[in-house]
Amino acid sequence: MSFDLVFFGGTGDLTWRKLMPALFQAWRHGKLPPDGRTLAVARDDRDDDSYRQWLRERLQAADSAKRPTEDEFARFAALIHYLRMDLSVPADYRRLQAWLDGRRADTVVIYLATSPHLFPSICQQLGACGLNHDRVRGVLEKPLGHDLASAQWINQAVRSVFSEQQALRIDHYLGKPSVQNLMAMRFGNVLFEPLWRRESIANIQITLAESLGVGTRGDFYDRTGALRDMIQNHALQLLTMIAMEPPSSADADAIRDEKLKVLRSLKPFDAVTVARDVVRGQYKAGTVGGQPVKGYLEEDKVPPGSLTETFVALRCEVQNWRWAGVPFYLRTGKRLADRHADIVVNFKPTPHPIFPGAHNANKLVIKLQPEDGLELHLLAAKGSVASASVGSATMQETLSPVSLDLDFDKAFPTDRVGAYERMLLDALAGRLNLFVRSDEQEQAWRWVEPVLTTWERDPNGLRSYTAGSWGPPAASALVARDGFAWPEES
Ligand code: BG6
Repeated sequence: MSFDLVFFGGTGDLTWRKLMPALFQAWRHGKLPPDGRTLAVARDDRDDDSYRQWLRERLQAADSAKRPTEDEFARFAALIHYLRMDLSVPADYRRLQAWLDGRRADTVVIYLATSPHLFPSICQQLGACGLNHDRVRGVLEKPLGHDLASAQWINQAVRSVFSEQQALRIDHYLGKPSVQNLMAMRFGNVLFEPLWRRESIANIQITLAESLGVGTRGDFYDRTGALRDMIQNHALQLLTMIAMEPPSSADADAIRDEKLKVLRSLKPFDAVTVARDVVRGQYKAGTVGGQPVKGYLEEDKVPPGSLTETFVALRCEVQNWRWAGVPFYLRTGKRLADRHADIVVNFKPTPHPIFPGAHNANKLVIKLQPEDGLELHLLAAKGSVASASVGSATMQETLSPVSLDLDFDKAFPTDRVGAYERMLLDALAGRLNLFVRSDEQEQAWRWVEPVLTTWERDPNGLRSYTAGSWGPPAASALVARDGFAWPEES
């Protein structure tokens, strides 16, 4: 299968930080289909050679294991080309069309790694010069819109040019190997599914914690905030995979139909429940990893007095027979104590304790990053016997917590591919399972929108937290109110 892969935004942050390194790894692992060309498109005045030189310098900054050798880069760079384009000029799209028509590859993937407000006009121009034929697929990076109306506007514009099957919306969390494993764990095994319901589960906690701040993206982040940046997409996608019913097959639409049902079952927010069940925070100066760090308001390109949230914790419910009454807690934040993402499934305690002492209930921890694995927390008897005492004939041993640990990086040391590598390979192959359908994406916006509008009307609700902590104390109170605790507090 020959392919042409075009990156709009070819000199942008995403292209050199994520897409090109992922493409290089796919090439290094021998996973790219043969006979491929990659074209970076941007405004800068460059040619193939100067672009390759620019890219070489950036790839050299990667971790040593991911850095290309001189020889590898020379062979990889031969696949990479550059085309200067002004995205507002129709004649420039015709030059792109001529470049692609030069050989009529079997598959053309056009990856829009640009600001999403450009998607409608780019799609319209691509359509106008026939670059929406059935060998073309378009990949759309998040954030897809700023609210429901803008997401619908983008989707309408995209749909007027590309069919749903041709428009691939990326949520890179779905490409993480651990998230694949979530599906495998639930639907490739019989062990958990009978317990995966309200009768056995007390609550579910999804944490996407980052220790980094907003870095050089202060202007983008300030317009976005944590709810739009992480909850509307990554956290909700994880929630759907945890809560969905078993799909009838592994087909993309069978899976996406089930995910959509979960999104539609989420209990809607109103002004009262937003005030009660959603906590937003912003970091102030503190210490992360032993280093002093600035507060959000001191970061580059953040306007003075900004009320943008860098932390969100919320409590929600999935209103259906399986999950009625089970709280789902989601939280995400920048400049937290640690970088880690996990999903903790807290089971209910045993109905009738026969052992002495306090009982930790069972817990399943699905670790997404930095480690990728599963931890099942159980209680066990150590096997030591208490000294005999007169009159105590009953079983007296106190149970101890133990865990069964599964490390997927160790179990499958050679075959793992990173999230963007996986998404690029799926886009080239036309595998749609891991891409978000427009109705899912719009439903997720519909659900978060009352939070956004309530916050706009109530600028006083923002709480501050110290960089290097786990967020505002109100996030702990949110969970404690139900008698539970976040993992680091339990
Ligand atoms: C992106 C957000 O979607 O995900 C970033 O825009 C965030 O703000 C990133 O840092 C986190 O991704 P990962 O894979 O590093 O957890």
